[in-house]
Amino acid sequence: MEIARQGSRVLVTGGAGFIGSHLVDRLVASGARVTVLDNFCNGRMENLTAARETGLLDVIRADITDPGVCRDAVRDQMAVFHLACLGVRHSLHDPAENHRVNATGTLHLLEAARDAGIPRFVYVSSSEVYGTALAFPLTEQSTTWPNTVYGASKLAGEHYAAAYHICYGTPVIRVRPFNNYGPRAHFEGDSGEVIPRFILRALAGLPPVIFGDGSNTRDFLFVRDCADALVRIAECDALVGDIVNLGYGEEIAIGALARMVLTATGREHLVPVHEAERPGDVPRLWVDAAKLSGACGWRPRTDAAEGLRQTVAYYRELYAADPACLERIQARNWEAP
Ligand SMILES: NC(=O)c1ccc[n+]([C@@H]2O[C@H](COP(=O)([O-])OP(=O)(O)OC[C@H]3O[C@@H](n4cnc5c(N)ncnc54)[C@H](O)[C@@H]3O)[C@@H](O)[C@H]2O)c1
Repeated sequence: MEIARQGSRVLVTGGAGFIGSHLVDRLVASGARVTVLDNFCNGRMENLTAARETGLLDVIRADITDPGVCRDAVRDQMAVFHLACLGVRHSLHDPAENHRVNATGTLHLLEAARDAGIPRFVYVSSSEVYGTALAFPLTEQSTTWPNTVYGASKLAGEHYAAAYHICYGTPVIRVRPFNNYGPRAHFEGDSGEVIPRFILRALAGLPPVIFGDGSNTRDFLFVRDCADALVRIAECDALVGDIVNLGYGEEIAIGALARMVLTATGREHLVPVHEAERPGDVPRLWVDAAKLSGACGWRPRTDAAEGLRQTVAYYRELYAADPACLERIQARNWEAP
């Protein structure tokens, strides 16, 4: 089923956010008409500047926890990409709200999609559903044993999506992305991610702060590759009703990542500082993405060196324009602000 083409209509929830806005860019570039549903609690209109210039974008500023909003937003859409959610660190200081948006909000959207007979629904889940796994790399058959309310609520959303497929035939595909990085990644507040935080501190001459001994690993995917993959996944009929991992396929320890960022920013003289482990931190994430490449031939195009180069260039510009942005980094950003 071709979705990224002129004449198709696509809804992206969370489309003003980090990954969502790159997905929107990818879709409008193909000529598709895109509606973003986002309450802008973490999303930014600036992320949609380029997409708005195409004249192919509509924005609904509203909340997915309102069933009426979901019903209106899905009307006449050919596909729904559901990305709106609250993040892992948010779940540590406000678990109930995290569940309300991630699990209950997903249920509302599924119900709206069923009611409207939407031809394709992509539920964007997370590698955090795996929690503390025992065998690596992680395949779609690996045990799901989430450590956090975020991981649990994303898994609840997956199960609701599967149930809608089984009970009502809603054409759902569940995707489990691993860690993304790139331009527009969050550095601020409880959304702040490790790579932009490392980069901005390094640009300011400050050492990276590592929670734990730096041996925890993650599998990092450049965000434009992720956006491209999400479109390929949505268009893959063979994945309807199924689950698929989405990641680069290389395990990088956080200590090694800090050194890579220091090299990419030209701040090799800085020495990382270590603080106590963050609660609920998953020790390892490493994807086996063979199912995805087998299903639709997708392969990541951007290696870590190139991805970091583009990411550093973005934050260098941002930091030059607004050095005070550093103050928006919240050190222990899983605690209530
Ligand atoms: N960033 C990653 O590394 C990563 C990894 C795995 C999975 N994911 C998944 O990808 C998706 C996007 O993540 P992201 O990193 O772009 O996050 P993000 O916070 O940048 O985007 C989420 C968007 O949802 C919006 N939102 C939050 N609550 C809402 C509500 N109640 N109603 C409407 N909009 C609401 C926010 O304003 C934001 O724009 C999420 O579903 C996340 O679980 C992200």
